[in-house]
Amino acid sequence: MAKVSRYQSKSMRKDGKIDWSNSEDAIWSELLTRQMDIIEGKACNEYLNGLERLALPTDRAPQLDEISRVLQDTTGWQCEPVAALIDFDTFFDLLSRKRFPVATFLRRQEDFDYLQEPDFFHEVFGHCAMLTHPAFAAFTEQYGKLGKSASKEERRYLARLYWFTVEFGLMNSKEQGQRIYGGGILSSPKETEYAFFSDEPNRKPFNIVEVLRTPYRIDILQTVYFVIDDIDQLLEIAREDIPACIAEAKSLGMLEPTFTLKEEKSMIKESEA
Ligand SMILES: [Fe+2]
Repeated sequence: MAKVSRYQSKSMRKDGKIDWSNSEDAIWSELLTRQMDIIEGKACNEYLNGLERLALPTDRAPQLDEISRVLQDTTGWQCEPVAALIDFDTFFDLLSRKRFPVATFLRRQEDFDYLQEPDFFHEVFGHCAMLTHPAFAAFTEQYGKLGKSASKEERRYLARLYWFTVEFGLMNSKEQGQRIYGGGILSSPKETEYAFFSDEPNRKPFNIVEVLRTPYRIDILQTVYFVIDDIDQLLEIAREDIPACIAEAKSLGMLEPTFTLKEEKSMIKESEA
């Protein structure tokens, strides 16, 4: 990921609101309307239930306090407005305190279909619905706590865990069949269709050590997805001795990439990578 974003977060007003412009309201509205259609039948029920609770407006970009109110009532989380890029220390610290960092900028029209940086639409539409679910919320909190005390090297492994769950996680549950819960997929029209229908990517059962050893690229459709059995599996993963899993992954070494090699960078905003 670029270390300097082409975007800047909007500053918050004293009353905690964001002054979205008419064109930003229009972008939000278009993004939301399009993606609501695309995720139908593909997103997991936990996500869809969360989305219903959030009741995101379709005619304007939402305010963070509207979303935080729902998160607070369901799992005790809140949104935290942040700059377009934040460092790992801030990222992990916020998660460990049940605060989800949301960059307060929206993509411009020329980036409507794809934007590498996680913008307001990605953070809110992609992630906040899942944060209303207790298992997902507990996993994310535990992830933040682990990251806070991890070394720089361990954080590189942790970035893969986040990538293949929170961002690009799939599930294949007995009740729902194949569904998507990763926000990197659900906020992207192309990746939603591809992750759900395409025969190209490899869909592997979730194995934490394998996840930690699997390289990824942020700027292509994923070549590998890891599939959990149901959302409560995230609780089991959070209870694992993850530092020991990282040590095992380290000793086994990285797996061969299944894509054209390019420097691995994380969608988690890195300052030290
Ligand atoms: Fe994200």
